[in-house]
Amino acid sequence: MNKGFKLAAAVLCATVLGACGKGGADGQAAKNEAITVGFSQVGAESEWRTANTRSVKEALAAPEFNLKFSDAQQKQENQIKALRSFIAQGVDVIAFSPVVESGWETVLREAKAANIPVVLTDRGVDVSDDSLFVTLIGSDFVEEGRRAARWLIDDSKDSTGPVRIVELQGTVGSAPAIDRMAGFKEVIGQDPRFSIVRSQSGDFTRAKGKEVMEAFLKAEGRDGIDVLFAHNDDMAIGAIQAIEEAGLKPGEDIRIVSIDGVRGAFEAMKAGKLNATVECNPLLGQQLAQIIRDVHAGRPVPKRVVVEEGVFTREQAATELPNRKY
Ligand code: AHR
Repeated sequence: MNKGFKLAAAVLCATVLGACGKGGADGQAAKNEAITVGFSQVGAESEWRTANTRSVKEALAAPEFNLKFSDAQQKQENQIKALRSFIAQGVDVIAFSPVVESGWETVLREAKAANIPVVLTDRGVDVSDDSLFVTLIGSDFVEEGRRAARWLIDDSKDSTGPVRIVELQGTVGSAPAIDRMAGFKEVIGQDPRFSIVRSQSGDFTRAKGKEVMEAFLKAEGRDGIDVLFAHNDDMAIGAIQAIEEAGLKPGEDIRIVSIDGVRGAFEAMKAGKLNATVECNPLLGQQLAQIIRDVHAGRPVPKRVVVEEGVFTREQAATELPNRKY
């Protein structure tokens, strides 16, 4: 399967209004001068995030780039502080992956006033004025939720009875949690056999995924859960531990579908404990670097760049595992 990226052609092409930064509005980036990029990362909450950080650092390397990297430890206030510090330092471009969707207007206006273009990677923001950022590079999270639900419907084609689902949500207020939930519900909502009996945040971490799954099992009983939908693989892997500790067989007694497609998920699928994973590609670094070059040089860039992804089942795990890059 081709894991390449594609530019979403159907979306509006941004004219990069007021976003040329120090590269110059005449489209001429200063040659041989490093582009200073302030990058604020969400944190280190998952295998996905670790791969994403590695990809960004590798792509935004010296001598072409002067990267100022900041880890927000999953806190919006830390990201706002980092963004303000990048503005104060007069970086050429700010790139960040927002922890949550809302609450960005003020700081993004400050960046715009300082004529520093902002590139969003991975996650989007909810702002009234979309000229506050140049572009968003990342996955279609709604579609990922739909893909998880479609896999489940297909996997349940021989069952007539009710299918009781528990959902482990990602970080409250984050774009992937909001969108994956919406996409999943949209599809299962069309089939009366399916119902979500419990839904709670596990904050995208293994530890929380385990903790919340333990609570689900306690509340619903050993026989009360048919399926787990986890918004990421790490939470699913944590939940697998909880299911095993409860004396049940993950992948059999409780079917599990999650999102990301990290190596740990492929190993769990190979062991038969996870049924399917929907790919969410974290290797955004090279694409981000190219967007930054374009923005810095004053060239127009698409307003939205969507990453191409697939779905993998446990039947494919052993063959696919050696090909995984994260
Ligand atoms: O924003 C992408 C999500 O964030 C990934 O699915 C998850 O693993 C990460 O923490």
